[in-house]
Amino acid sequence: MAHKITLIPGDGIGPEVTRAAIRIMEATGVKFEWESYAAGAEAFEKYKEYIPRELTESIERTRVGLKGPVTTPIGGGFSSINVELRKRFELFANFRPIRNLPHIPTRYPDVDLIIMRENTEGLYSGIEHEVVPGVVESLKIITEKASTRISRFAFEYARKNKRRKVHSIHKANIMKMSDGLFLRCSRTVSKEYPEITYGEHIVDNTCMQLVMNPYQYDILLMENLYGDIVSDLCAGLVGGLGLVPGANFGHECAIFEAVHGSAPDIAGRNIANPTAVLRSGLLMLRHLGEHDAAQKIRQALDHVYRDRSKLTRDVGGSAGTSEFADAIIEAIENPSSAAPVTVSSGGPR
Ligand code: NAI
Repeated sequence: MAHKITLIPGDGIGPEVTRAAIRIMEATGVKFEWESYAAGAEAFEKYKEYIPRELTESIERTRVGLKGPVTTPIGGGFSSINVELRKRFELFANFRPIRNLPHIPTRYPDVDLIIMRENTEGLYSGIEHEVVPGVVESLKIITEKASTRISRFAFEYARKNKRRKVHSIHKANIMKMSDGLFLRCSRTVSKEYPEITYGEHIVDNTCMQLVMNPYQYDILLMENLYGDIVSDLCAGLVGGLGLVPGANFGHECAIFEAVHGSAPDIAGRNIANPTAVLRSGLLMLRHLGEHDAAQKIRQALDHVYRDRSKLTRDVGGSAGTSEFADAIIEAIENPSSAAPVTVSSGGPR
């Protein structure tokens, strides 16, 4: 039976990278029925809505989405489609595994971190107003409910996946009430998981520590804005934004999307790296129970990165998006040429 998936190709490099990822996922033999919808400026032209009703209904029906990046106007215009979707479907947990790909030279080998970002509130509540001309107020909303929910998600994940440490990342020395509440909630939840080491670090220090010694961390639990910023820093640790996947989980549904944005600087040129959205697709395949297909793709991805002749520019190659995808499909269809995946040790901790 085919999996029904809501597809949001997005804009900028979104359509190019999602097309490549879909071709690869379909090459595994898994059957999909894609319900494809525009969102953002493109949707507004067609439906006079930034998130069309049809798209919302499709997600309610399929409960699983694959999403390309959507451009958000800066300093005005409509509010972020990503933020809206996360709020609308209560996709409260933004899950971003940060792992090296084999054969991509980086400063640190065997990085294995997970960012668990609260996805529905904080400064992304978008509540801003001009108090008087020249003075603007932006509200940071932190609730006990959302902070406890993401903390529990992080600790449950740690327990189920035998991870050893959770650090709650905060700025409670300055934002004593809001980040103080977040911290109290993660502390309270941590007491229910005595087998998992719990730590607390201030966010600016965390950035420095990550750059100097990423192995000291395992799961990084944080509110929305810190999660957004630290995710890009961590993407840089393992080879860049073209590589890092993500998933947004709620109790009812899940939307899988890369960490990167619509990259207008390289859009429409068939040079974007589709690995990040493909790895988000791998998270989706596992969510759907398609573990064999996910393993086939991992093996093919490993082969293409080891071979190096069909890599995209961001990781030192010269191949186009579609050529890279063709090479992965070739490795899926001829698995004998693709040696088994080397499973990372996870690095020293
Ligand atoms: P960006 O992630 O689009 O690009 C940052 C840099 O990384 C650029 O130099 C870009 O060329 C490069 N890059 C990103 N993805 C790549 C890929 N797959 N392959 C090769 N290089 C890649 O971030 P930026 O420029 O800050 O944002 C552009 C737009 O994307 C903004 O409108 C922003 O709001 C939106 N955005 C959307 C997201 C989403 O839909 N989930 C997430 C982040 C940003």
